[in-house]
Amino acid sequence: MQSVQKATVLLDEAIDTISPYLHGQFAEHLGELVYDGVWVGEDSPIANTGGIRNDVVEALRPLELPVLRWPGGCFADVYHWRDGVGPREQRPMRVNVHWGMAPEPNAFGTHEFIALCRLIGAEPYFAANVGSGSPQELQEWVEYCNFAGASTLADERRANGRDEPFNIKFWGIGNENWGCGGNMNPEYYADLFCRYRTYAYQYPGSEVFAIASGPLGGDWGWTRRFFERACNSYWDRRKLVQGFAAHYYCGTAGTSATEYTPDEWLELLAKARAVEGVIVGHRAIMDEFDPQRRIKLFLDEWGAWHPVEPGKPMGGLYQQNTMRDALVAAISLDVFNRHADKLHMANIAQVVNVLQALLLTDGDRCIKTPTYHVFDLYRPHRGATAVRLVTESEPISDGGASAEDCRKCYLDTDADITLKALEASASIKDGVLCVTACNTHPTEPIEMELAVPGAKLGEIELVILAGADYLAHNTFERPEAVTLSAPQAVSAKGDTARIDVPPASVVRIRAGLT
Ligand code: AHR
Repeated sequence: MQSVQKATVLLDEAIDTISPYLHGQFAEHLGELVYDGVWVGEDSPIANTGGIRNDVVEALRPLELPVLRWPGGCFADVYHWRDGVGPREQRPMRVNVHWGMAPEPNAFGTHEFIALCRLIGAEPYFAANVGSGSPQELQEWVEYCNFAGASTLADERRANGRDEPFNIKFWGIGNENWGCGGNMNPEYYADLFCRYRTYAYQYPGSEVFAIASGPLGGDWGWTRRFFERACNSYWDRRKLVQGFAAHYYCGTAGTSATEYTPDEWLELLAKARAVEGVIVGHRAIMDEFDPQRRIKLFLDEWGAWHPVEPGKPMGGLYQQNTMRDALVAAISLDVFNRHADKLHMANIAQVVNVLQALLLTDGDRCIKTPTYHVFDLYRPHRGATAVRLVTESEPISDGGASAEDCRKCYLDTDADITLKALEASASIKDGVLCVTACNTHPTEPIEMELAVPGAKLGEIELVILAGADYLAHNTFERPEAVTLSAPQAVSAKGDTARIDVPPASVVRIRAGLT
């Protein structure tokens, strides 16, 4: 008999509006992401629009992705924007020192990135170079992009084909400046952040939202010392900070992206679940320095990080993506919903061909990964009001020894980050309840008893993401081994519905409330 796991939606416990930016994406000049994955050039035999692959655009456009962060990552702090504007044949060839010493032809620069964003409907988010750049370089990039009036830089933009300003709002001031972004200590970075941020001018008609570079995971010392320096030095400079971005990679479990045991399945999901510790820990520190909660928390990079796919270059971070990754994504997005009152943006790493990608390409072929389908499934949460959902669900895993190492970093938060058999979140928009949930058990189905006290559930629509088993994934030969099911109707009894949730699956339940 399958186990019953209860989930109760507490309609009178609204959390906040779920920022659509929680479904953000990340595109770094790394491996096969930009070159081959997105950009093939106008003369390519691969169908393209102005050099950008049509199949990738056609796959991404229906997701209505809210935001795309670029050009890095570590690459951001070696990127000089002037290399990537003007006639392509005159652009310099550089070496991508962080990612396999690959050639960087700069064919894909500011204008090409904006063209991609327009084609897929995403808002651009620029990560600026602090590590090897200068405040002047940042000031000039902002002016080039955002100034509508008469200036040599704005005229250069016009000469390069764009009359109207790009009006880039989101500006990351460096990336991982404790590491690849300059090996700085937090006080030095806080000083540099304030200096650079000063010159990211807000030109008339544009808005600048500056994001400071936070730590990896639960490195609370970086966060605390950054804010102490920004707030308690000669001036109180916290007004310069609009956003603060942590990174969290749950990594891998086992030795392969596609071949893993049930224990390794649970280990990785437990590590993914621990992202709540990162969020809770950061919120607590930020609340000390910003009790009005004016500064938004970002999670600029997150996701699984597996060993590189056999046959692919080490520096390219190309990995396959299975139902295990789909549950990593779903569990994480459910956690994000529960922190809708603080978390403003989260960008999974990365959109095509790198780490936990939505799409994989091979020559002229392009496939959707299970993670792609999670972003599709979770779309109704965007802009909805998150409401508290409590589960009476048994702990399924502490994730084993290596997850325990990971958890130790977060033990000084009071978050319950134990992986349960049923992981879920809920939101409401226009009188329609949306519950997303995972059966984290690799091989056993569960019955979910969903209760919404105080409401009458109408007919329920159920959509399931599952494969043949917990190892299922799409390949270029079998691109639809994992897809969303057709919507099915489920009947409810008063305020309760019982839903069969297959093993290793993600489900979405939508119901009108009366
Ligand atoms: O996403 C890959 C890399 O991971 C990024 O360049 C860096 O910011 C992080 O360490």
